[in-house]
Amino acid sequence: AALPRFYHENVIDHYNNPRNVGSFDKNDPTVGTGLVGAPACGDVMKLQIKVDDKTGQIVDACFKTFGCGSAIASSSVATEWVKGKPMQEVLSIKNTEIAKHLSLPPVKLHCSMLAEDAIKAAIKDYEAKRTKPSASPEASQ
Ligand code: FES
Ligand code: FES
Repeated sequence: AALPRFYHENVIDHYNNPRNVGSFDKNDPTVGTGLVGAPACGDVMKLQIKVDDKTGQIVDACFKTFGCGSAIASSSVATEWVKGKPMQEVLSIKNTEIAKHLSLPPVKLHCSMLAEDAIKAAIKDYEAKRTKPSASPEASQ
């Protein structure tokens, strides 16, 4: 389907050829899963990261987005940007940077917000998993 002309070529490229579409096993201890929804439109985005336990580096990322073209393009960009980066660094990725990269119009800003939220949720999930497997002395205090 053709997109309206006000979309920048980056969004059309990521819309037509989304990068890193797919799923990791969410039970894999090295995988963090972020699942977020946009109340405004009902679109849903799942973004997953695979983390090197030793370095905290994100070695791989993928997504599945049930949403508009801008949400798909935003998740595609987000997975590109997080790969190969330390988790701490990607926490500072702002939806406004994604929106700027894709030249999203104001009404589509919430689509890029989904991507920012999904990155944060994926990291949170990964960290929660890491601290869960008991044996941690702090947990009993
Ligand atoms: Fe793909 Fe910039 S055009 S991340
Ligand atoms: Fe809601 Fe794009 S219209 S995520």
